[in-house]
Amino acid sequence: MAKLPGNAGVSVLGDKSLEFYRDPVSFCQKRIEKHRSRVFQCRVLNRPTAFVCSVQGMRELLCDKSNVFLKDPTDLMTNMYGDTMVTTNGEEACLLRLSLTSLFTGSCLNESNDYITSVCERCLKDLSLSGQPQCVYSAFKRLGTELVLGLFMNVRAEEQPELFQEIMQLCTQHWHGLISAPVNVKVPLWSSGFSTAMEARDRLMEIIKDKLENDTQGFVGSLGSLPLPDSSSASQHLLLFISALIPKALASLLTSFTLALSGNRQARRRALEDPDYLHTVLLEVQRLWPPFIGGRRIADQDSTLAGLSVPKDYGVIYISHSVHRDPEVFQEPDNFLPERWSGRNAGQEHFLCSFGNGPRSCIGTKLNDVFLKEACMYLLKNYDWCLDPPSQDLEYKWLPVSRPANPPTIAFTRLDRTRSDGSDTS
Ligand code: HEM
Repeated sequence: MAKLPGNAGVSVLGDKSLEFYRDPVSFCQKRIEKHRSRVFQCRVLNRPTAFVCSVQGMRELLCDKSNVFLKDPTDLMTNMYGDTMVTTNGEEACLLRLSLTSLFTGSCLNESNDYITSVCERCLKDLSLSGQPQCVYSAFKRLGTELVLGLFMNVRAEEQPELFQEIMQLCTQHWHGLISAPVNVKVPLWSSGFSTAMEARDRLMEIIKDKLENDTQGFVGSLGSLPLPDSSSASQHLLLFISALIPKALASLLTSFTLALSGNRQARRRALEDPDYLHTVLLEVQRLWPPFIGGRRIADQDSTLAGLSVPKDYGVIYISHSVHRDPEVFQEPDNFLPERWSGRNAGQEHFLCSFGNGPRSCIGTKLNDVFLKEACMYLLKNYDWCLDPPSQDLEYKWLPVSRPANPPTIAFTRLDRTRSDGSDTS
């Protein structure tokens, strides 16, 4: 069996984690070109690691061989969120998924619709009010936070502003711990980001447990009555679901959507009138600008990916940005072409991995879909928009969540909805 191209390097000195974190996209691009292969090896997190940048490799990793390439139970996510389905494997993971998926589908999801509509209206209605260009990423993050805390915790910004603010701040502090080194150091007058994050987690857990004990309504009520493996499981998962990661990912997609359609009134009008076209626009947005760079697994036994051997205990990372630009599947991979999804790539949504893929894909996909469509429709129905100033540096950063490194500003103009010909004034 052919060896993975590249070099697994020597322990510590051969580690390339820093180079990867600085710029994961050019890290992969450089090596894809050097090795002329979209699957290669390198040492990251001080472990020999296979990088998967092709559609075929991603499908094999996440679907066909999902019982060989497993989640890492020692992942930083476990440190931050405790034992959740994200880092478990086997039967336990299956059972947790089975229980928790019910909260994000069917009648539970339908019951969320009115709240989703009202939160979009409340957070997006004033985008043109000041007459000044808006920092869209911040506005969308606020929208995502109101959505998450309202839906999952029954805490609504307009009803309980102080509690909302407290939880939002705690979630942000907690999140900062995820991206700071896991060193739990605390000395007088100084504490590392990680230990501050742990304090935030403890306070969040108090609030969450109180909710689970006393709220019988909505998502919290349903979660509290699910058959879960132990008494802390509901609270650990609720901590995960309200993580600051989710509003950031939603804001990432909405920002990319507004940027992709800014200065293209024709595409906006078409997206407003034709739900199928809006669907293809959103597929293309997540293809080009996936919020998360990818995911990681560990090889539980010797195996292969794309015909290359992957030894037991190797790490494996799939890079959604590179998978989505695999020229074998996506012609003109760097171009924004929504039409591809009704033409050559019709029916190939399963070649994307912005929400993972296979049996461990995201359980929030349907909820995200409903939410994104609602928010995009609100914007399309009510606004015309363009970059202001017209020339801005839109270079993306990809970690921890993708977005233009310099937050872009956009000017919104209310559409005059009394005009039947749809000719707006801006
Ligand atoms: C734009 C928003 C979101 C994005 C881009 C996203 C992305 C992802 C991705 C890429 C994975 C797979 C990770 C891997 O392969 O290792 C994943 C898994 C997961 N997501 Fe999401 N997600 C989003 C929103 C949500 C929401 C709203 C929830 C629930 C509140 C959620 C819950 C989960 C869970 C529990 C898993 C783990 C599933 C498992 O391991 O079996 N996500 N998500």
